[in-house]
Parts: sequence; C-alpha cells; structure tokens
Amino acid sequence: MGTKAIKGFRDILPDNVSRWQQVDRTAREVFEGFGYRAILLPYMEFTKLFSRGIGQDTDIVEKEMYSLTDSKGRSMSLRPEGTASVVRAYIQNAMHAKDSLARLYYTGPMFRHERPQKGRFRQFYQVGVEAFGSPDPWLDLEVLSCLWLFFEKLGVPGLELEINSIGDAACRPAYRQALVAFLSERRDELCSECVRRIGTNPMRVLDCKVEGCRKAIRDAPVMLDHLCDACREHFEIVRGGLDSTGIPYSLNPRIVRGLDYYTRTAFEVTTKGLGAQNAVAGGGRYDDLVKLLGGPDTPAVGFAVGVDRVVALMEGEGIEPPERARAYIAVLGEAALGAAARLQRKLIASGFSVVLGDPGKGLRAQLKRADKTGASVCIILGEDELARGVAVLRDMASGEQLETEVDTVADKLRGLLPEGT
Ligand code: HAM
Repeated sequence: MGTKAIKGFRDILPDNVSRWQQVDRTAREVFEGFGYRAILLPYMEFTKLFSRGIGQDTDIVEKEMYSLTDSKGRSMSLRPEGTASVVRAYIQNAMHAKDSLARLYYTGPMFRHERPQKGRFRQFYQVGVEAFGSPDPWLDLEVLSCLWLFFEKLGVPGLELEINSIGDAACRPAYRQALVAFLSERRDELCSECVRRIGTNPMRVLDCKVEGCRKAIRDAPVMLDHLCDACREHFEIVRGGLDSTGIPYSLNPRIVRGLDYYTRTAFEVTTKGLGAQNAVAGGGRYDDLVKLLGGPDTPAVGFAVGVDRVVALMEGEGIEPPERARAYIAVLGEAALGAAARLQRKLIASGFSVVLGDPGKGLRAQLKRADKTGASVCIILGEDELARGVAVLRDMASGEQLETEVDTVADKLRGLLPEGT
C-alpha cells in the first residue's frame, strides 16, 4: 500500500512516451491546420456541470465520477470528459461575443471510475476538438474531415467510421415513445439494467452488450426511421459530403452515444484490433448544450479521441515515431570536457539529440554507453583532437571513422544523420 499506483491509473514509461508525444504532435498539427486553437482547462469542475451537461441518467454521472466535497460543502469532480468544460469556458469567457464561430481543441487526462480492463483505464487521455457557431452540415463535415486526417497522418490502419443521426427535440420525443412501447413489451427479456433504462434513458438499451438484450432489441425501431424533415436533410448533406470528400464510413443506426447532450449527427471510430474496448474516438453535434448550461443558443459539434487506445494500436502495428537523430560525445580526459559541453550545446541547438560521455571512463566504456543510448554517431573528443581543433566522428554501425574540424561537426552530422534536422 502506498507504493503502488491506484488501480486503473498507470505510469507511461519513457519507452512508450514517444508514441504519446507523436499522437499529441499530430493532433496539434492537424487541428491547428484546420484553424482550431488550443484551450487548457481545469482538471476539476463543480459536479453540477457534468450532471447537467452529460446527463443525470448516464453511466458517467450515475457511477463513474471521482467526486469530493470541499470544506464549504460543494461537490466537485475530476473531469470525466472535455466537452462540458469547453462549453463552460465558452460561456464564462463570452467567446460568442468575440467571434460567431469558435474552434477549440484540448488534450489531457480524463477520469472515469469504470472497471479497468484492456483498453479501459480510470485515468485516460483524450485529444478533442469542439466547434461552436453553426448548425449547418458543413461544420459536421469539417470536424469529421479533421478527425479522419488525424488518423491518416498517424498512419493507424483498419479504422472504421460509423455515423448516425439521433434527431433533435422536434423528432426524438415521438421516437422515444415508440421505443419505450417496444421495450416495455419485451421487459422480461431484458437485463435488469435495461429494464431500469426504459424509464430513464431508453435509447441506451440499444447499446447494451448483453446477449439477451441484443436479441430482444433486434427489431427495435431506430431513430433514423423517425427523423423529421430538417434532421433528415441535415444528415443527407453530411453523408453526401463524406461521399464526395472520399472519407469512408458506414451507417450504424444503433449508435446512441453514452452522453445525453447529442443532437443529430453522432459518430464513432472503431477498430477490430483492441478487443471489447473497440472505440477509439466518438463525437457528434450538440446543438442544445450551450443553452442548457446557461449560455446563448449556440449550436456545436466535436469529437474526442482516446489516446491510450490509439497508442495501443500503434504499438500493435509496430508504428514507431521518428526519433531525433542521436549522437554521443566520448570525452577523453577532463581537459576536453569544456569544449565537449560547448559542442553539445551547439549541436542540440541545431536540432540533434546529443548525450555527453563520462570523461572519467575510457574510450571503450564510452562507446558501449553510446551504443546503449541509441546513438548512431559517436563524436570522439580528446586532448589531442582539441589541440588540433578537430573531432573524430565514428559511425556506430560500421565502425568507420573520419576526422573533421570542430566547427564543421554539425554539417557532417547532418550528412550522417539526415533525420536529425
Ligand atoms: P466518449 O465516447 O465518452 O466521448 O469518449 C471518447 C473516447 O475516449 C472513446 O472513444 C475512447 O476511445 C476514449 N475513452 C473513453 N473512456 C475511456 C476509458 N475509461 N479508458 C480509455 N479510453 C477511454 C466523449 O468523451 C465526448 N466528450 C466526445 C465529444 C467531444 N463529443 C463531442 N465533442
């Protein structure tokens, strides 16, 4: 006790961190490329924000939040997702007044008290975007295009984009009634959780993984068949846009999402490579949320990607991020240390990664270390070289050596380590 991480919380060790950084870097590049601007959000919010935003009857709010009460008796929770916080920040900072369209993105840890299993953690990471200000399908398309390019740039294969429309306040109530009627007739075939959901959140029954429930709801009515004209037209334009931009997708009328704020377009990206926890991203439109949380009536759409799962896929596929070219300076004797440290600074400033050797050790020992640090080139600098203003560059793979003036080491390295700059 006390010396182990909490269940579902974990260390990401240096060997794996470069993949995480690659996901973050790609997200930043792609999201900023689409005109999204970063927002840094608090990790903790008043619990009320999530219960109102995500929905009182969702699994997240009912049983998955890490909440505490402060000394004034106020309930606060670690954020289980980013959307509610972005909306709060959007309202609190009157962003609508500055620009009728706001494009924001975030990265960072989220916290849900779920049962940990492969691909499911209690602290996990998301990168996500939220776009505010237009109810029109072009913004759905932009967000989907951004999501797809992100995955393409990362090079993760085998992903499937599934989309659905879950209607709006105009058409959902009638559908809900039809669904409740259907489910009530099959109450005996449903698991106890789903029986409870009939009265609280019937659409979630469509998402149940229990075999008996899946059988019972095989012919359940789906929202797609009950869309009003405005929602149907909106969805057709989104689909037409996906078709013409060449983003592959399939229609899945069973997507309902686990959070209550969605309207119209809802989507998920799944993979077959991860077992039960197969969703790597999810999102959709949420036109009523800003108003629900006390802001001006502002339509919005966004997504979040589960970074832990994307990294697991990258590992499985053997996707290694490009490493910074590494060099090592073997320092032969204390007298060469000053010059070696100066050279190291210069090379690092030029974009290389350079580790300094221990001048107390001999050349053989330092070459061994150089190998261990993953260096492809070892720069050998001793008193003799120093006196002549040169350094020796040793190719670690072939053992070939060449001598060059200290001032030209960076240029020579660039030739030997083309990826380093
Ligand atoms: P979500 O579907 O709850 O949506 O989460 C998005 C992604 O986060 C999931 O597809 C999954 O990859 C990852 N994820 C969720 N829970 C865990 C967990 N316990 N362990 C590991 N990964 C997990 C949202 O959070 C919405 N805020 C998305 C959104 C943004 N909708 C509109 N804008």
